[in-house]
Amino acid sequence: MAARRISSLLSQSFSSSSAAAPLLQGRNYKGIRRLGTTGAAEELIMPPVKVEHTQLLINGKFVDSASGKTFPTLDPRTGEVIAHVAEGDLEDVNRAVSAARKAFDEGPWLKMSAYERSKILYRFADLIEKHNDEIAALETWDNGKPYAQAAEVEIPLLTRLIRYFAGWADKIHGLTVPADGPYHVQTLHEPIGVAGQIIPWNFPLLIYGWKIGPALACGNTIVLKTSEQTPLSALYVSNLSYEAGLPDGVLNVVSGRGPTVGAAIASHMDVDKIAFTGSTATGKFVLEMSAKSNLKPVTLELGGKSPFIICEDADVDQAVELAHAALFFNQGQCCCAGSRTFVHERVYDEFVEKAKNRALKRVVGDPFKKGVEQGPQIDSLQFEKIMKYIKYGIEEGATLESGGERVGSKGYYIQPTVFSDVKDDMLIATEEIFGPVQSILKFKDLDEVIRRANATHYGLAAGVFTKSLDTANTLTRALKAGTVWVNCYDIFHAAIPFGGYKMSGQGRVKGVYSLQNYLQVKAVVTPLKNPAWL
Ligand code: NAI
Ligand code: MG
Repeated sequence: MAARRISSLLSQSFSSSSAAAPLLQGRNYKGIRRLGTTGAAEELIMPPVKVEHTQLLINGKFVDSASGKTFPTLDPRTGEVIAHVAEGDLEDVNRAVSAARKAFDEGPWLKMSAYERSKILYRFADLIEKHNDEIAALETWDNGKPYAQAAEVEIPLLTRLIRYFAGWADKIHGLTVPADGPYHVQTLHEPIGVAGQIIPWNFPLLIYGWKIGPALACGNTIVLKTSEQTPLSALYVSNLSYEAGLPDGVLNVVSGRGPTVGAAIASHMDVDKIAFTGSTATGKFVLEMSAKSNLKPVTLELGGKSPFIICEDADVDQAVELAHAALFFNQGQCCCAGSRTFVHERVYDEFVEKAKNRALKRVVGDPFKKGVEQGPQIDSLQFEKIMKYIKYGIEEGATLESGGERVGSKGYYIQPTVFSDVKDDMLIATEEIFGPVQSILKFKDLDEVIRRANATHYGLAAGVFTKSLDTANTLTRALKAGTVWVNCYDIFHAAIPFGGYKMSGQGRVKGVYSLQNYLQVKAVVTPLKNPAWL
């Protein structure tokens, strides 16, 4: 494989070792790379890849949907059809849930030793690693993200994640609890059962890993619904899990639409837990469906309008680069995008000028070409939505510093767009755009920026850029967000918990905290024959 560079995809130009850290840490991450001039994109690096799996994956086998229906998945570079994928519905969800239930209640999965389960997960990770480049190609094709980002960051992060959770599988255990009276009390940490998991299109495989990793490590079985925009990569990878030795029915994948497959999973009486990542609006539906069915516990990882605060002592060049990456990474389609760039008034003018120049240099183009930093948006709906927000920004009086137009006439490419003079109540400062649109706001002092940064229903993430430890400590404590990155952004190691305050979600994915979402605690109480031992 030719493509083996993190290249300019991470858009970093930090030369100092102290202030800034890289974005997502991938397999080939070798420290901080200077960006400099990005240059023109050239040379197509698309590896040969063909779509092998388009059916539903139920009980360890690829099968057509009960209705025989399919839906097209599109190439965001052109809007053309890549493949027709089996479209699930209620009956398919019922079949998948039955398979998962049987695998949980009867199958060898839970009866295996935790070490055996762990070894299967390690083998699964090895297979993902072996097929890294094909998987990345499939991901880029279906999603539009730069190939190097998929091949060198995201798929390696998935591999790392599966290994992280493989390591947990045989380290999950309960406690012995001191209790009054002559009782021996112990807790058993048991898997919940059948986990329903619904994932979006922006990081189809990374979020897939966040979901299946802890569920499998704890011994659950799964019915997973991918996004209808990006169904291909999870089918490919899930097939590898069976090659690694997963017993039939442990991981079922039902492709299809939200209101049919998603709703059927969320309201199913025999699904014991639901984990969802996507929009806040759909997250509310999921919670409601749980309430109206069997009260299955719900974890939600939702949207955000995350502040990125650049203090007066910041090195402006570094801050520009980091804020640029925090927003534009993945075409701006990140739940935790640093989408409100607060800049101290003393460095504001210089920052705006440099942020604009950086955006003008960003290389937009075919995500399979070397050097491309930004591919197309996922689909026409998202494209239209983003263009609407750009229009609102102009109408509401923000200054359009760069971009604002579509790129080319085919596919869903948008110019990297920078607005300055953004006010807190403008739509571009309050709503999730989910696109390559940076909103820059000016602030005067810390108390003010804390108040403004927290004045949102969201609370997913925040970024702080400062040389002062006191300022960093103040901000990290004051900001109401599930993650605060200081002098870095988007660090996504498997062990770091991730999730939202307020309407950005409930519960945490990744890390040790994610395990508790997939475990029940059972207290076992036994009288002690000989109270003298107490
Ligand atoms: P969405 O929240 O509707 O889709 C996410 C997943 O939920 C998909 O698998 C979808 O099929 C499923 N779904 C949709 N309706 C459902 C229902 N009634 N019941 C159960 N599952 C359902 O997000 P969408 O429409 O793709 O994007 C809309 C906006 O959501 C974006 O512009 C962005 O602002 C936000 N979003 C946030 C994400 C995040 O990572 N937090 C990811 C994707 C979108
Ligand atoms: Mg697609």
